[in-house]
Amino acid sequence: MPFKKSVKLGLNIDHVATLRQARGGREPDVIRAALEGIKGGADGITAHLREDRRHIQDRDVFELKRVISVPLNLEMSIEKEIVKIASKLAPAKACLVPERRQELTTEGGLDVISGKNKIKQSVARLQNQGVEVSLFIDPIPKQIEAASETNTDFIELHTGSYANSTGASRKRELDRLLRACQFAHSLGLRINAGHGLNYDNVKPIARLPYMVELNIGHSIISRSVFIGLRKAVEEMRDLIREV
Ligand code: PXP
Repeated sequence: MPFKKSVKLGLNIDHVATLRQARGGREPDVIRAALEGIKGGADGITAHLREDRRHIQDRDVFELKRVISVPLNLEMSIEKEIVKIASKLAPAKACLVPERRQELTTEGGLDVISGKNKIKQSVARLQNQGVEVSLFIDPIPKQIEAASETNTDFIELHTGSYANSTGASRKRELDRLLRACQFAHSLGLRINAGHGLNYDNVKPIARLPYMVELNIGHSIISRSVFIGLRKAVEEMRDLIREV
C-alpha cells in the first residue's frame, strides 16, 4: 500500500439549490452554504450545472468562482451549450458526467468507450482553459482504459453500486473499486470517487489506495438539517481523514 496522505473532501451543494428552487426565491443562499462548508473544512466546492437547470443556475457558478477560496469543481455534461459555459467560467476543475433529463441524480458513469472522440474534444477544450478535467466512470477496466486515452487528468469512480449494496456484494463492490484504483494508477490517472457516500459507508472508500478526493452531497446536506452545515462537513471531513 502506498503512503496514505489525507483524502480531500469536495462538498456538493446542489441540494441547497434544489431547496431554493422549490420556492423560486433566494433562500437558502447557495453561496453562503459554500462558505459555511469551507469553514467546516471542505477542500473544494462541487456544483452540477444541469442542462435542465433544476438546481444550480448559471449565476451560481460564476458567483461561486468569484467568491470561494477553494477550488470550484463543475460537474457537467458534454453538451455544446454547457461546454461553452464551462470554457467561459474556467473553474479549477470539471467533472464530465452523463446526463439524462428524467433521472433523479447521475445514475451511471460515462460511456467513454463509445463516446471517446467527443469526450476527448471536450477534455482538450477545457484543459486549454486551464481546467483540470475528470471523467465520472464506473469501475470497469475497459472504461478506465478508454478514459486514459482521452488525456483526462482524473477519473471519478462511481461509488453508487458500492453504496447501494450490502453484505457479500458490498465486499465485491469494494474489491472492484480497489482493482479500479490500482489499474487507473498504473495508467497514470489520478483518482477521485463519489456518489451515495455517507457517514456509514465512507471510510472504506477513503482508505482505497491513490484516492485523492471524495465528492459528497446528499448525505451531508441531509445531516445539515439537524446539526448545521458547518458541523455536518466537519464530521465527514474527520471521518475521511481518520482512515
Ligand atoms: N459525484 C458525481 C459525479 C455526482 O454526479 C454526484 C451527484 O451529483 C456526486 C458525486 C455526489 O453524490 P451524492 O449526492 O450521492 O453524495
